[in-house]
Amino acid sequence: MRKLPANPLKPPATVSGTAGLGIAHDSAWKHVSGQARYIDDLPEPEGLLHAAVGQGTVAHARIKSMDLSAVRDYPGVVAVVTVGDVPGHTDIGPVFPGDPVLAGERVEYVGQPIFAVAATSLRAARQAARLARVDYDPLEAVLTTEAALEKQLFVRPSHTQSRGDPDQALASAPHRLQAEMHVGGQEHFYLEGQVCLVEPTEDAGVFVHTSSQHPSEVQKLVAEVLALPIHEVQVEVRRMGGGFGGKETQAAPLACISALLARATGHPVKYRMARTDDMVGTGKRHDFYNTYDLGFDDDGLIKGADIMVAGRCGFSPDLSDAIVDRAMFHADNAYYLDQARVVGHRCKTHTVSNTAFRGFGGPQGMMIIERAMDDIARHLNLDPLDVRKRNLYGPGRDTTHYGQTIEQHVLPELIEQLEASSDYRQRRAEITAYNRQSPVVKRGLALTPVKFGISFTAKHLNQAGALVHVYTDGSIHLNHGGTEMGQGLFVKIAQVVAAAFQVDIDRIKVSATRTDKVPNTSPTAASSGSDLNGMAALDACETIKQRLVDFAVETYGVTADAVEFVNNQVRVGGQTFDWAEFVQQAYMGRVSLSSTGFYATPKIHYDHETGHGRPFLYYANGAACSEVVVDTLTGEYRVIRTDILHDVGQSLNPAIDIGQIEGGFIQGMGWLTTEELVYSDQGQLMTTGPATYKIPAVSDAPPDFRVSLLAHSPNREATVFRSKAVGEPPLMLGISVWCALRDAVASLANYGFSPPLDTPATPERVLGAVTATREWAARNGQTGGARCKSA
Ligand code: MTE
Ligand code: MOS
Repeated sequence: MRKLPANPLKPPATVSGTAGLGIAHDSAWKHVSGQARYIDDLPEPEGLLHAAVGQGTVAHARIKSMDLSAVRDYPGVVAVVTVGDVPGHTDIGPVFPGDPVLAGERVEYVGQPIFAVAATSLRAARQAARLARVDYDPLEAVLTTEAALEKQLFVRPSHTQSRGDPDQALASAPHRLQAEMHVGGQEHFYLEGQVCLVEPTEDAGVFVHTSSQHPSEVQKLVAEVLALPIHEVQVEVRRMGGGFGGKETQAAPLACISALLARATGHPVKYRMARTDDMVGTGKRHDFYNTYDLGFDDDGLIKGADIMVAGRCGFSPDLSDAIVDRAMFHADNAYYLDQARVVGHRCKTHTVSNTAFRGFGGPQGMMIIERAMDDIARHLNLDPLDVRKRNLYGPGRDTTHYGQTIEQHVLPELIEQLEASSDYRQRRAEITAYNRQSPVVKRGLALTPVKFGISFTAKHLNQAGALVHVYTDGSIHLNHGGTEMGQGLFVKIAQVVAAAFQVDIDRIKVSATRTDKVPNTSPTAASSGSDLNGMAALDACETIKQRLVDFAVETYGVTADAVEFVNNQVRVGGQTFDWAEFVQQAYMGRVSLSSTGFYATPKIHYDHETGHGRPFLYYANGAACSEVVVDTLTGEYRVIRTDILHDVGQSLNPAIDIGQIEGGFIQGMGWLTTEELVYSDQGQLMTTGPATYKIPAVSDAPPDFRVSLLAHSPNREATVFRSKAVGEPPLMLGISVWCALRDAVASLANYGFSPPLDTPATPERVLGAVTATREWAARNGQTGGARCKSA
């Protein structure tokens, strides 16, 4: 382990900590000074062994035979386990079965773990794992969404949401357009790869350090695999070096495999994946194949919609059912679809099982309707922003195709504000003029909204617990079911507790998430971390406060409303006590200063049979306006300015929220532009590291980047201090960049043609769009650049 500097950097003195202040991330100083401990930084226990797995090398095959003798004989190897050595469950599917902990008779994707090795060094484990001789009997591999659709190969049944008579509406609409598109997947590229450390305990149980968004699920699956009661397994997550959904289910296999090896050897086992293995072997964002058939009037107002979203789930269900559901719930994005049908397919392919990724299918669903907005605008020669604004939900047009009523219409006003602050109309005119006189370099502009549903669509996950202890010196220990992955959840919940007791934030210590402190927790996901855990923590604080009030009433003979918590003090009638002093009194008076807290989200329901309900407590909203410049000879481009206005309700921490918005936007932009997953025709991932898979760099961020929070927008639902969730919604602001790229290319055809541009819109694809657009323009005599009539 690294030696700590003699005089460790200390965070600056904090401001009196109530909710709403832009307090720095509690680990910010530790992150930047290298003192924050990730699992691979933990002191290594005595006798530690290292794990690696042997990966399948074909997409779909029966395993005829497997010779592991060379693996076992390799110097340093202590144990080799296969599925036959698993004492308990062999299937670790998180929601539905389908994920073998180690492959049995069949492999279903390139990279599937088929056996695991424990060795005295990481190098030995990895080297040995390569020495297996596996004989395969190849089976037909289905690799693409279209192939799966054709064969009707699904991991879960398809699902439909509909309203009215879309076929009739389509048939009678004045205009009708159809299109299809491919939306690419995305590698999470968390900076800390998947990692886990398992230590056997004295009672045949295990203690698990995992980098997981879902410690309770890791606990349950490890217990099942080892055939133990859940209480024999303890799981701790101090922090993740990024999760982004990639550690919601994908951390569990490492824990289960390490636990098996720890059981087999009696030694602690660490399993840290190499980046390449991580990229090949763990699930990513689903790529989608989407189609639309839309009918609309002369103003571009949608009258009927028939939309299909089909996600490539990979070989197993994992979370795909809910992910495709969320794509369906967001196929409208911010727009009233009138008579509508949305069909979602969960395609089975012989590729790695795709999983949660920031937005959870929502972004992929939104892409089809945002594309449609631009297509309608080109078709009618209108400004895309006008088409978007006309189609927005509003009073009287306020129910979604799945029957949820939108109660807070934030977007019309938010878009007006952003349109003004980004100077959209003026810049639109300038860009059109610029493009007319610039034959090669073209500029593009787009303003796109986001409406994102907040709550887990699996109803039972919308619950949380917390544990608060007040010690006799007035310091406070806080624990809750949420995990910290960089998003600032810990500081936000600490702020909630500080606000509840009206004490400074540095009195509060948040400890690592542990299954023996708060049990049966939900994953930290669906952006609900602060909504759920904030309310649970508040509930615990209220219980303790009530006891303190009762104590004051009893001791000092005052009425309850004469007891106040203000500015690190407790006022009791005319008397004022320092917080710590009063806590000490309560302790001496034998008052319990510790409490659990609990919260379950109200109001939500959804009926999968009818495709109808209120799956979300509320929606988070935002909009982005991006400007790009494209070199039409090479397809290369840059984003030159982005303006964002985002609604976080009454912010718990504006500094953290703005960080989430900036980071989310950049990650969304990367997904739609440079991040390309390339598979061989044998189903092998070819882009397995940063050299071939390009995430955005600092230099890709817009040089002019203006992010604001929508003012005066408290959540109308009773969320914690009227805040709104912020984790995922901003990712979809990145769609503005893709639309701006299409806008720039459309200028080549006088904005009369919709450039075909699947994502990621790499320079190659942009160049393809340029070529197609030029060809159309040549055929239709539409070169040059007069702008559409409304601009
Ligand atoms: N921000 C950072 N820095 N790192 C992350 O891994 N994950 C995102 C988002 N923001 C992530 C992040 C995802 S996918 C989700 S669901 C939320 O954070 C989860 O945290 P929250 O519910 O506390 O917002
Ligand atoms: Mo986030 S994709 O819900 O972990």
